[in-house]
Amino acid sequence: MPHRVIISAVPIIVVLVLGSILWQYDGMQNSDHLCTLTEDNAEGPYYVAGAPQKEKLGQFLDGKRLIISGNVVDAECNPVPGAIIDVWQTDSDGEYHFEDFILRGKVHANDDGTYVVDTVFPGKYSEAGQFRPAHLHLKVSSPEGPLLTTQLYFEGDEHHDWLVKSSLVLELHEADGIAYSEFDFTIVP
Ligand SMILES: [Fe+2]
Repeated sequence: MPHRVIISAVPIIVVLVLGSILWQYDGMQNSDHLCTLTEDNAEGPYYVAGAPQKEKLGQFLDGKRLIISGNVVDAECNPVPGAIIDVWQTDSDGEYHFEDFILRGKVHANDDGTYVVDTVFPGKYSEAGQFRPAHLHLKVSSPEGPLLTTQLYFEGDEHHDWLVKSSLVLELHEADGIAYSEFDFTIVP
């Protein structure tokens, strides 16, 4: 093969190789932008169906208030309007309430997928002689979609157990005696 042909082919090969690398890089970038589905977690034995829609949970109970806010989105990071977050939890003494829905309620996300869970900071209870870490139980869905059943935990809890997944551990910050945290749910709507 004449040298001239080989030399003239070099730029084409370089363009093809570079194009391939850039295409792969672009694909990786796009996949990085996708939202990862929120991990599920055990339902546990204390769920009661039929909780009413609520703005606040445990409104008149003693204990530190906890406000968790964020977005409910799908795997393409699009908001899930009107998503339903069905929450159940203990009071600050670690007690579940069964006779009423005082600490059980469905929080509805806004049209843009944003939500606020305004509640009391959950206390701990022991199971088989071992404390469970402070946690909230949740079932999250779009108005018509399948339920994601999971739990949320908090950083710095000495009782984190085998159920805890790191992606479900929330950072906390405090202002005026209220604990605040942020969490985005990614669900299949
Ligand atoms: Fe629990």
